[in-house]
Amino acid sequence: MTGSGLVITIDGPAGSGKSSTALAVARKLRLTHLDSGALYRALTLALLRAGIPEEEWEELDREIWEELDLRLEPEDSAFHVLLDGVRVGPELRSPEVTAAAPRLAGIPEARRRLIDVQRSVAEEVGVVADGRDMGTVIFPDANLKVFLTASLRERARRRLLQEDRPADPDRIEEEAERIRLRDETDETREISPLRRPADSVDIDTTQLTFDEQVDRIVDAARRRASEGLTGRGRVG
Ligand code: DC
Repeated sequence: MTGSGLVITIDGPAGSGKSSTALAVARKLRLTHLDSGALYRALTLALLRAGIPEEEWEELDREIWEELDLRLEPEDSAFHVLLDGVRVGPELRSPEVTAAAPRLAGIPEARRRLIDVQRSVAEEVGVVADGRDMGTVIFPDANLKVFLTASLRERARRRLLQEDRPADPDRIEEEAERIRLRDETDETREISPLRRPADSVDIDTTQLTFDEQVDRIVDAARRRASEGLTGRGRVG
């Protein structure tokens, strides 16, 4: 399955495994993974590097947002994020960036800055885009929309394992509380809150293995393709 203009969206709450799932789906279908969270993280990193205090982000002029030099470069099944022409990687996942990104994601000018970045790459290559508003705001006409969920405890457990931290009951509770607060921020913010797209395929992954959840999406995408990629509504 290749071709520019083809879009599969995967939205869902923090820790639902969207990014790793989206990358695996992209590899299987020979598409490119667009990790929209990385873009919010990259803008966050750019402002932290520029030394602009967080309290001032909300008030920044549009020109400042436009001047931030953020680009995406496709390679294999994913995009590299470039800030000032230089690739950024693990810095995007630092605790400082993770803590400040939700604030940035609630700023209308920041979201506006990223709309074209996301839509324009999808004109060049077929994408599997993951985030919070992919199917609702950025790609409302996507060929397939998926909404991934999992229980809070399971999401906490997976996040700890992913970060090589011990997943004992106390730590799971602590992590679950952190994730719950992030969900709340994402779901209650005024602009582009996390919402299930009305026409999405919903997959609860609590009881699924990683391969099973990837296969469900790949199967749904292939079914859509055999329907001519025009169908909307549930195919789950
Ligand atoms: O998925 P993530 O943790 O990398 O996302 C980083 C932040 O960006 C998080 O606060 C959610 C937000 N985000 C968003 O508001 N919209 C998206 N499409 C993707 C991420």
